[in-house]
Amino acid sequence: MRIAVFASGNGSNFQAIAEAIASKQVEATICFLFCDNPKAYAIERAKKLGIPFTVFSPKNYIDRVAYETELLKQLELNQVDLVVLAGYMRIIGPTLLRAYVNRILNIHPSLLPYFPGRSSIKDAFEANEKQTGVTVHIVDEGVDTGPIIAQEKVAILPEDTLDSLEAKIHQVEHRLYPQVIQKLIENKTIKKANKN
Ligand code: GRF
Repeated sequence: MRIAVFASGNGSNFQAIAEAIASKQVEATICFLFCDNPKAYAIERAKKLGIPFTVFSPKNYIDRVAYETELLKQLELNQVDLVVLAGYMRIIGPTLLRAYVNRILNIHPSLLPYFPGRSSIKDAFEANEKQTGVTVHIVDEGVDTGPIIAQEKVAILPEDTLDSLEAKIHQVEHRLYPQVIQKLIENKTIKKANKN
C-alpha cells in the first residue's frame, strides 16, 4: 500500500505511522509527506526519518483547484493508493475528493460527531465532559464529517488538566491510527491506485 501523509504542524501522528511501518506493524510505504506549511515541524521529522517530503503553500496558487491539481499530480506520479491526513488544517476540495473517493482518511481528537473543529480537546475539557476520545474517519466534503471507521474513548478524570488530557489523546492516536490503516490494508478496503 502506497501512502501519502498530509500534515500542517507538529507531525507526531506522521511519525507514529512511519515508525509502525518501520517495525512492520503496517505493511505500507510512505511515498512522501506533504506539508502546506514550510514551518511545520513535521518536515524536520521527515528529514530525520529519511522520508521524502513535498512542501508548497496554497498561497502560491490562483485558487484551490490549481493547488489541489498540483497535489493530485504528485499523488498520481507516486501512484499513491491512500491519503492519510494527520493534522492537515485544510478542507479537502472536490479535485482531490473525486480522485480519491473513500481513499482519504482523517484522525480527529474527539468522539465525533461531538466536538468537531480545531479546538476539540479543549472544548470537551471545558464542557466538563467525563469522556472524550479519538475518531478515524473517511474524509468527505465537510469538516470532520464522513463515515467513521474507528473510535476509542478517553476518560476525562477529575485530576486531569488540559495538558494531561492532550497527552492521553495523542497516545491513543499514535496507537489507533497505524492499527486502523493496517486493518484497511488487510481487509483490502482500499483500492490500489495502480489497479484502477
Ligand atoms: C491530532 O490531534 C489530530 O487528531 C488532529 O490534529 C492533531 C495533529 O497532531 N487532526 P500531530 O501534528 O500529528 O502531532
